[in-house]
Amino acid sequence: MRSRNARIGFFQFYPEFGKAKKNVETIVGALETVEADLLVLPELALTGYSFRDRREALAMAEDPSTSNSLAALADLCQRRDFHLVVGFAERQGERVFNSALLIGPGGVQSTYRKLHLFDREKDCFDPGDLPLSVVEVRGIRVGMMICFDWVFPEIARVLALQGAEVLCHPANLVLPYCQKAMTTRCLENRIFAVTANRYGREVRSREEITFTGRSQITAPDGSVLVRAPVDADSLTIMTINLEASRDKHLTDRNHLFHDRRPAFYAALCRKGDGSSLPV
Ligand code: ACM
Repeated sequence: MRSRNARIGFFQFYPEFGKAKKNVETIVGALETVEADLLVLPELALTGYSFRDRREALAMAEDPSTSNSLAALADLCQRRDFHLVVGFAERQGERVFNSALLIGPGGVQSTYRKLHLFDREKDCFDPGDLPLSVVEVRGIRVGMMICFDWVFPEIARVLALQGAEVLCHPANLVLPYCQKAMTTRCLENRIFAVTANRYGREVRSREEITFTGRSQITAPDGSVLVRAPVDADSLTIMTINLEASRDKHLTDRNHLFHDRRPAFYAALCRKGDGSSLPV
């Protein structure tokens, strides 16, 4: 196999709720001396997760064109000459999205708005409204998805069909399944994934949420190349060979994309609300 190396990684940490300035300082402090091509931070890394309601989310959300926090991360990318994917609450007028931004030395390169909102997120955010897309940075074809998108295999598949080699996956995971599921998402698409989770508990009013840590980098053969602890900061960078995601054969005669039978998948393109499901 030819070699096409990239240094990719994640920074798992504990964002403090409502303390964007402090969270940005934590990120910048941790990454200030790092050498890498592409790093992934958790979902909602600037604000924390547990908004009480839409009003609170909107009040803490940031417009990338005016955000000091995001400008500080863009400066960091320029100083260190790397790319970052960061999860954040994005304000656009009166709308608020659970978004991820791909930032490089030249500034913002791409935005993803979470398509599948989890549980109470539906009370706080607008559902994503941007098409899935793949962006090439440093020769790495990058696709973005956020946390609960893991349970909708269509997302990883569409990004893989669009040519993604690395799924950047900011997360605030609470269910125990994702880390295991990502091995299948990667295997069935022969693709890498960087799942950057947070850890710790958030207690707001009477509600308490515990996040599962265990950020991981998963390889196109479904192996977990590296996994962070459950409950600690973890800055992890490794070199991968992107060529490993090029060959979509599972056997000599089975190509994961060419063998697909989309003519039989029509139900995937209807909303599965029961009424339109085949009997
Ligand atoms: C999640 O999507 N943050 C569980």
